[in-house]
Order: sequence, then C-alpha cells, then structure tokens
Amino acid sequence: MADTATQAGGEQLEEKLEGMLDIEKFEPPEDFHKHALLSDPSVFEEADRDWKGWWLKQAKELHWFKEPTESVDESNAPFYKWFNDGKINASYNCLDRHVEAGNGDRVAFHWRGEEGEERDITYAELLRDTQKLANALKELGIKKGDVVGIFLPMIPEVVVAMMACARIGAPHNVVFGGFSADSVKERMEFSEAKALITVDGQRRKGKTAPVKAKVDEVISGLDTLQHMIVVKSTNNDCEMKEGRDHWYHELLEKADDECPAEELDAEHPLYILYTSGSTAKPKGVVHTTGGYLTGIAATHRYVFDLKPEEDVYWCSADVGWVTGHSYIVYGPMLNGATSVMFEGAPDYPHKGIWWELCERYGVTLFYTAPTAIRACMKWGVEHVNKFDLSKLRLLGTVGEPINPKAWLWYHVVIGGERCPIVDTWWQTETGAIMITPLPGIVETKPGSATRPFPGIAADVVDERDGTPVADGQGLLVITRPWPSMLRTLYKEDERFVETYFDRFGKETYLVGDAARKDKDGYFWIIGRIDDVVNVSGHRMSTAEVESAIVSHRMVAEAAVIGQADEDSGQAICAFVTLEGDETEGSDDLIAEIREHVAGRIGKLARPKRIIWADDLPKTRSGKIMRRLLRDIAEGRAVGDVTTLRDPDVMQQLEGKIKEEHQSEQ
Ligand code: PRX
Repeated sequence: MADTATQAGGEQLEEKLEGMLDIEKFEPPEDFHKHALLSDPSVFEEADRDWKGWWLKQAKELHWFKEPTESVDESNAPFYKWFNDGKINASYNCLDRHVEAGNGDRVAFHWRGEEGEERDITYAELLRDTQKLANALKELGIKKGDVVGIFLPMIPEVVVAMMACARIGAPHNVVFGGFSADSVKERMEFSEAKALITVDGQRRKGKTAPVKAKVDEVISGLDTLQHMIVVKSTNNDCEMKEGRDHWYHELLEKADDECPAEELDAEHPLYILYTSGSTAKPKGVVHTTGGYLTGIAATHRYVFDLKPEEDVYWCSADVGWVTGHSYIVYGPMLNGATSVMFEGAPDYPHKGIWWELCERYGVTLFYTAPTAIRACMKWGVEHVNKFDLSKLRLLGTVGEPINPKAWLWYHVVIGGERCPIVDTWWQTETGAIMITPLPGIVETKPGSATRPFPGIAADVVDERDGTPVADGQGLLVITRPWPSMLRTLYKEDERFVETYFDRFGKETYLVGDAARKDKDGYFWIIGRIDDVVNVSGHRMSTAEVESAIVSHRMVAEAAVIGQADEDSGQAICAFVTLEGDETEGSDDLIAEIREHVAGRIGKLARPKRIIWADDLPKTRSGKIMRRLLRDIAEGRAVGDVTTLRDPDVMQQLEGKIKEEHQSEQ
C-alpha cells in the first residue's frame, strides 16, 4: 500500500518537474529579497566602476594588524599582488576576532561522526586547541614558511590543524582523505613538507581502514619529512617511530596555551593545494593570505546571504578539496558562522542521513554537488520526506554543470519551492566563487551559474584569437585580476604562466572551461577543454590515470577519456592494450587494474569501464586521438579518421564496442 502511494507520489513529482522544465527564469523569492544582505542591483555597477576600490573595501571588513592602503599591484603581471602593504593572520580572523567580540561560546561546528557521535565545538575551544597545536609545531622546529602536510578525515582536528599552520605562517598542504598513500607521498615530496599531520585510521560506512600504517609503507624514504603527528581517532594499531612520530593528544597536553598569531604579510602563502592538470604531474596551486581571505569572506557572506547569529550552514564537501578549504573552513569561520561537519557518507547509516541532520541541527543554508543531488533523486523522495526541512532558506551547488532536471528536483523536493538556488562556478585556482547568482537580486535559470560576482569580470572568447563571442560557445576567461586568485604553481612559475596566461596575454586568465553566454549575459558552463575529467565534481587528469594504468605489469599502453555518465557527470573510461600477444584480459584483470589505480591515486580514479584494444588510434606523429575514442565510447558516429596512421584500428574498436553492447543485452 505504502509502496503504491510512494509510486503514485513519484509519478506526480515526475510530471510536475517535466512541466517545470519550460520555466526559463526563477525570481528571487520575495521574502528572501526583502531580507537579503544584498538586494540592490546597483552593487554590480558600483563594483564595476571601481573594482580595485570595491575589493579594498571588502578587505577592510577583515582584521588587519596593519591595514592595507593599496588594492592590486599589477606591475609584474601575471604575478599579481593584493593588499601588499597590509599585515594579517588567517587564524586570528577565523578565531580570536570572534572570541574577542564575545562570541567565543558560539558553536563553530556541530560535528557528527559516522556512528552518530556528536560534538559541538565552539570558537573558544578551537582557539584553545589551535594555540596549543601551533606551539607544538613550533617546538618541533616548524617555522614560518615551512610546509606542513595534512591527511585527515572529516574530524574537527582537521580544522585545528589548518588553523595552527595558518597561525604560525606554515603553509598547509592538505591531501584529500580518499587519496592513496602514494598520492600523499608524492604531494609531500613535491612540496618538501617538513611535517605531516595524519590519523591512525579512517572510518567509512561501518568499516575502519588503517591510515598511518599505509602512509608508513611509502613515506620512509622521504628525507624532507621530519615529523609525523598522529590523531588517535579509531584506535587503529600503529607503530610510532621514536623521534619522528608524535601523538596529537600528547603534544596538546604538553603544549603552552598561548600562541600569539604571527603578523604576516598579506602575500604570505596560506596554503598549497594540489589539483589535476593536463599532465600526469598535479599542479600545486598556491594561495596567499590577505587576498584569499578577502575573496572568501565576501563571497561566503553574500552568496549564501549569511547571518551568523541566525543561520546554520552546511557544506557537504570534504575539507581535502578546495570547496572544503574555502567554504567549510575559511569562509564560514571568517564570518563567525555555525556549521555542520559530517564525517560520513550520504547513504550511511541510511539514505536520508543528510536530511535527518538538516532537521536535527536546523540547517538553513545547504551547499552540495550536482552528483549528490542526482544520487538522492535516484534513491527517491521517501528518504527526504521523513524529515522536516522547513528551516532551509537557501541551497547551493558546485563542482559541475547541473542538469535542469536535477536543479528542479533540488528546488521542489529539498527547497520546498521557497529557497533560491545558487549554482556557483569556480575552481581550485580561483580560490573563491566567481560566477553565481546573488540570491536576493539575480533571477536564476536552471543550469546556468548566471553572472559574475561583483568585482569579477568574465567573458566567453573565440579560441583562435580571443575575441569575445557574442552568441555561441567559446572559451571562458577572466579578464581582470581578483584577490583570491592563485599566485603561482608551487615551484613552477613557468608552468603557471604557460597554463593560464600564455594564450591571450597576461591580463587574461584562461580558465580551461568551455562556456556560452546567452542573450541576457548569463554564463552556461559546458565543461573542461583540457584532458581533465570531472568525476562527481572532482578533477582527475587523464594523463595521471593513464600513467597509473600503464604502471601495471601487464599493460602496454592506455588512453583514458571522460565519458558522459548519468550519475557522476563524467566517468573514466580506459582503452587498454596488453603486453605480449594477448588482446583481451579477463574480468579478474579488470578488477586488478582498477585496484591498482586505486592504490596509485585513489578510488575515485578507478576506471568505470575498461575496453581492450589491439592498438590505439594515433596520428602519424604518434599522438593518441582521444576525440575518436570519445566518439566510440559514447556510441557516436566516428569523426574524421583520415589523419590516422592506421585507420583499421578504429574498425577493430568499433567491433569491440558492438560486442560489448550485445553481451549487455
Ligand atoms: O569545469 C569546472 C567545474 O569544475 C572545475 C573546477 O574543479 P576544481 O578545481 O576541482 O574545483 C571544484 C570546486 C570549485 C571547473 O573548471 N565546475 C565547478 N563548478 C561548476 C563547474 N562547472 C559547471 N558549473 C559549476 N557550478
């Protein structure tokens, strides 16, 4: 009976959403508009008229030991400097400022563990632990400018670790908890990290996996890494190496309580975050302090319309990605917000856990990724409808284009048709949200990130000569500097210039996305133009996955492409040729290769599909033609093959795909 009712409800919803697909624009809800922090559209012109002054005004919202008098220094473009004569500290802005204003008892994070454990952590408590850990780091000889690695799951200690680094001016280098120990090693090696803060074990869906022990297996040869600090989180056994390894809780017990925040130059590096680029080597994106904090604080406040005394904010990302850095840690804490931090997966212990937590903590602002929304759609509204979501007043998305159907589902089922949706476009490199609706002002169109944030200038240009494309598709560019922009790629200045500022000159930042602008000047992001695959909103480099596959002893060659996927937006598809005479591998070998890639990079990078190939389509100069592989994988008519060294290769591959289809049917 209940099932029939649910089914009928599902059909009705489906019909309703189908009917709404024709709605072109959604106005900001009237009540929202009335109470929004920004409700006057003149803010766009004001910021445009004097963008340098606008950003300086935003910077002055922060606490400075020495207030800056300059906005941007463009004298050595594209190595821009912002607020260069100011002195500032990120952790002071995120912690001390709120405690000094009498808000120390405000909850910074309602932390929820996988098995239902709860901890409310206040700003005062975070300040206490941050000072202790900062002192402990200093005791271990970590100085201003030394890089500290962080490899932790979603536990409050990750925030303390980031804050402690920021307090003493040690740039942190956080590695996503889902990455492999090999990836950690590589990132510690590239950044010459002196210390690594990690954990004994990590929980995932009821299981516990060792972390420290795995890191130990690969890290011993790394001379630059002098210390490892280990948080005891799961009581997983781990060996502690005398002199190098230290328990986090023991260090905190011994450490002094007071550690004044370093007065740092605005351009002092705050962190390095590695992200995928077109080559196998990840790019170490460097963010500095004053400009980054300015961009993050302003966008977090205005895009989410944050009212720190009333709102409960939740960004469901992981701290290991830029979304977590900017909109779980720095943004909300700069603005004194109360947030939810959840350790677990969206379907554990049940598929409605997110909505249960929204009800439990009275979440008002919720920020997630389209891929998660699509998963929830699949699981069904019954998991949502059990919970009271009436406190929600704004919803956000990030990470990939959102298909209009998912947007409408989010709007109707989660937002009760009363919450504006902010589809926020940005990147690791941009540091902060760049293209987004201002929820009290801008009408939204499902699938469009709408228009640039005040002070930001973006355009869509012709790929050949960089001239603006009035109508149609082109390359997305940012045409003036912005405070939270990356400053360089760690120890790779040339690669920084080549990747972002070579094509159209040093005033034009090349995003790496294709986009189009519509008649209202709204931006529609299409996707990456480089060899980067966006899996569930996470960037993976095809070259990095290829090199992991090829390192398997039985593989001769591999070509990886991103294939359209209903659930994850894009999925990794690999064409693999084997060593020796074998042209086809077994299912066991497929499983082995997938696990091999997981071990090298992380589970997210595992190919969803492996296609055995006798050979790969190459040009006469030996370049693999991925365009043709994409056509084949997605079942399209194959494009021009005349430049191929051996056109027969394509026939063989087409035959394989046909066989695959037949065996599926
Ligand atoms: O292709 C764009 C896509 O994600 C890329 C940036 O990935 P990453 O640096 O990992 O940062 C993700 C979170 C900020 C972009 O180049 N992307 C991000 N947000 C959107 C998006 N594509 C469409 N719409 C978005 N809202």
